[in-house]
Amino acid sequence: MLTPLKSIIHKFTHNIISMSSAQSEIKRVTTQKLREMKDRGEKISMLTGYDFSMAKILDDAGIDIILVGDSASNVMAGHETTLPITLDQMIYHAQSVVRAIKRCFVVVDLPFGSYQGNSREALNSSIRIMKETGGHGIKLEGGKEVGESIIRILTAGIPVMGHLGLTPQSIYKFGTYTVRAKEEEEAERLMEDAKYLESIGCFALVLEKIPATLAKKVSESISIPVIGIGAGPHVDGQVLVTHDMLGITHEFQPRFLRRYMNLYDDIKAATQQYISDIKNKDFPNEKEQY
Ligand code: KIV
Repeated sequence: MLTPLKSIIHKFTHNIISMSSAQSEIKRVTTQKLREMKDRGEKISMLTGYDFSMAKILDDAGIDIILVGDSASNVMAGHETTLPITLDQMIYHAQSVVRAIKRCFVVVDLPFGSYQGNSREALNSSIRIMKETGGHGIKLEGGKEVGESIIRILTAGIPVMGHLGLTPQSIYKFGTYTVRAKEEEEAERLMEDAKYLESIGCFALVLEKIPATLAKKVSESISIPVIGIGAGPHVDGQVLVTHDMLGITHEFQPRFLRRYMNLYDDIKAATQQYISDIKNKDFPNEKEQY
């Protein structure tokens, strides 16, 4: 028989133990788990995240990877391209995301200008991301031309995700956001780059806006997970920009984009209702005051 005080202490410690065991029961997504998912044919889900509240919802929903994408430059800051976003701004977004998550793997984009100079600069930028945000890996755009930098980052023990096909940081070289690697020469180069990225130790690869047949070939030719965006269904996982998927952005409709909601309309309608309630002196009512 427990005395009242012992009973309170017992209950308190029991609660703490069950809380911490519940937390430790959450199995975190790791690079190894992602590789195992590819091996057993389980598709990988990835979405972009830039802030605490949204990242919490995505993680609670069971997303495998959150990409703190440099698309924050477009979606969060309203720039036309991904080029203007800075390393400090990416770090701010990544810190907010990491604070929110319990399970998913968080990859952070190296922004334009933070790795192209030389491999030391690339390593320093990656170290800042890992140290200051608590993210789990970095992503950068390009193949062999950024190989030396990737090797240096990997040597420091930082997981690297590659990104081939339409690489938005090179938009002014491409001149357009249309499908890449439709011609044989570019397709061959992309395949070589994918094999190269695998051989030097990247843990995964994003393929953006390339023909589905090519993406299938790449995915079957390399052992690391291939995550597609506009690359068809025969890859190991899919990624979309969250704001596009939820219909918060609505100005464009690329063929590959499936919108699961139309939040632009919903949020606009809710805001209009709120404005109207204020103007009509309907908000706050009797119950919504002290
Ligand atoms: O920044 C981003 O959102 C991306 C995805 C489109 C893959 O790189």
